[in-house]
Amino acid sequence: MKAQLLPQLFLGAIALSALAACRGETSRETPIVPIRNMYKQPRYNMQGESAFFKDDGRTMRPQVDGTISRETETDPELAKGRLADNSGYVLTIPKAVVDEFGGMAQLLDRGEQRFGIYCAPCHDPSGGGQGIVVKHGMQVPPTFHQKRIREIPDGQLFATISNGISNMPAYGPQIRPSDRWAIVGHVRALQVSQASVAQKETP
Ligand code: HEC
Repeated sequence: MKAQLLPQLFLGAIALSALAACRGETSRETPIVPIRNMYKQPRYNMQGESAFFKDDGRTMRPQVDGTISRETETDPELAKGRLADNSGYVLTIPKAVVDEFGGMAQLLDRGEQRFGIYCAPCHDPSGGGQGIVVKHGMQVPPTFHQKRIREIPDGQLFATISNGISNMPAYGPQIRPSDRWAIVGHVRALQVSQASVAQKETP
């Protein structure tokens, strides 16, 4: 019985492989999809009209309070800390961000608070690199009070927070851009406050 089925199986396998060979080739014909599953489903087009929402009859929704607009990500200076012509990092915190907080003092307050939440566990509250996580075995991060890190541009600090660096994870996905700038401000404040320590440590 089994032996009789073999030729059929063989032919079937050839037919299948011939069909499979057609995959990947471009064609202008409408594709034949026997099992349509979720190919077609009701959806709204962008900027379309809809009677579903009572407020303005459109499918696009107003931005929800507390969410981040993707548009913040299109300005290279604010979103990446890079100059618009991509020639390097911005040297100082963009004025638009300071204005957003209503002044440098407010920015620094926010930065201190965010630093305490996101950075101090590893970098410790003074930025020396002896945070609680390090005491549990994590690699010791470099102190912020060394010449190299004191001298990197604000935009590069911003990019380090956003993208992470070697063993440090990226915080871009967790911290909104203006808060990352506020943290940059706080790191700068720490560096100024520890300047005398830094001079002793790095001749
Ligand atoms: C989970 C621990 C951890 C957290 C949280 C963390 N870092 Fe780091 N950070 C590190 C480690 C480890 C390094 C060293 C990475 C390396 O070079 O291997 C580092 C390096 C750095 C550097 C030096 C970059 C350079 O050019 O060498 C800066 C600046 C920095 N972190 C800033 C921050 C700031 C600001 C935050 C808060 C948003 C933060 N880090 C959060 C672990 C952490």
